[in-house]
Amino acid sequence: MAYDHSTNSLEEYWIPFTDNKGFKADPRLIVSGSGNYMTNHQGGRVIDGSSGLFCSPAGHAHPKIVEAVHETMKELTYVAAFGTSHPLSFALASKLAGILPEEINHVFFVNSGSEAIDTALKMVMAYHAANGQDRHRFVSRERAYHGVNIGGVSLSGLMNNRKTFPSVMPNIVMMRHTWDEAELFVQGQPEGRGVELANDLQRAVDTFGGQTIAACFVEPVAGSTGVLNPPKGYLERLREICDAEGILLVFDEVITGFGRIGGKFAADVFGVTPDIMTMAKALTNGSIPMGAVAVKDSIYEVITDSAAPGAIEFFHGYTYSGHPAACAAGLASLSLYEEDGLLEQAAALSPYFLEAAFSLRDHPLVKDIRGIGSLVGVELHAGAAPGARGGQCQKDLFWNGMHVKFTGDAGILAPMFIAEKSHIDEMIGKLRLTLDGLS
Ligand SMILES: Cc1ncc(COP(=O)(O)O)c(C=O)c1O
Repeated sequence: MAYDHSTNSLEEYWIPFTDNKGFKADPRLIVSGSGNYMTNHQGGRVIDGSSGLFCSPAGHAHPKIVEAVHETMKELTYVAAFGTSHPLSFALASKLAGILPEEINHVFFVNSGSEAIDTALKMVMAYHAANGQDRHRFVSRERAYHGVNIGGVSLSGLMNNRKTFPSVMPNIVMMRHTWDEAELFVQGQPEGRGVELANDLQRAVDTFGGQTIAACFVEPVAGSTGVLNPPKGYLERLREICDAEGILLVFDEVITGFGRIGGKFAADVFGVTPDIMTMAKALTNGSIPMGAVAVKDSIYEVITDSAAPGAIEFFHGYTYSGHPAACAAGLASLSLYEEDGLLEQAAALSPYFLEAAFSLRDHPLVKDIRGIGSLVGVELHAGAAPGARGGQCQKDLFWNGMHVKFTGDAGILAPMFIAEKSHIDEMIGKLRLTLDGLS
């Protein structure tokens, strides 16, 4: 199905995180999607090499999800999210609790990863307030991406995401990022300097006093910056310092959750349980916006026990928290992952995918490749300006029939869990061909 966009104005829509003028001069529209493929507005087939934005592992337009949402919407299109609720929200929270780490059984619904992060920040504040503690400092990390709301930007370690927005939260301390130019082309966790880098948190404790630090936020694998795996011992050491100092450890699992790195969650893959987990994206296979924040029972209990009987315990929530359509999509997606064994399928394909992706290491434009599970960052040598070559590569790839999300010069490959070897071959072939055409 081709779509003649020339009959429609492209001017009014302000496209997020996009060079609007360039896009409108050379539009790249997707008009339909099914499984591993999408169709562009000229009728061309585009293989999805990033599962959208790492959110659709079961493939585009999965009939079971479409049907579940449709059936729900026929009965229930909205329920006030405060003071009332509906059965699907409880069902989805219970289902999630069943797959989350053992001590994490309470789930708050939001509509995106960014809202999950801001919600987690407020939960941390509410928890320490309930405990009568004045902890006002947060620790984050260089190269971190925690979404775009003010809380997430405050925690952001990416310069472009912060430099035009100076009015962010105060009292944020940054740890160093974990990329090490001495260890290139590593699959999985680098041997690296895990304990040394995690001791940046200890340095914050030693500088400011552990009793002033509320929480440490990390993506277990830093995703958007181009897939930085935690060096061995890193997350364990963060956990140790947090335990010793009463600091809450928050894992932002917006990308890593639901099988992307080879286990249910990064917490399972790395064997480190945080106090709070944020998630979004694959929770609904990307079909309906939804995120969630899951907390240890002890956190839920401290906050809810601290309120007077009958009083609202946590003054926070969104009109669309736990929307019926999103819950239906979430329940259908989690059932699919389970019944079709999609996480296992992805884990089985992972060695083939990683080998294929790492075969690009001989390309002269490739600076580094990092990967784990079904997630690979291919970092290009910078061109005329940082990000210019990556941006060009993303555009050229599109016209060569493949979608890949680039952040700066790093392309992030995240195939669908339904992908087969032939899809991986097609992706890596198209990427190599496109790199060959770049200067
Ligand atoms: C780790 C992480 N946190 C938060 C977000 C923000 O999610 P959203 O774009 O749904 O607000 C993202 C998005 O890519 C992310 O990768």
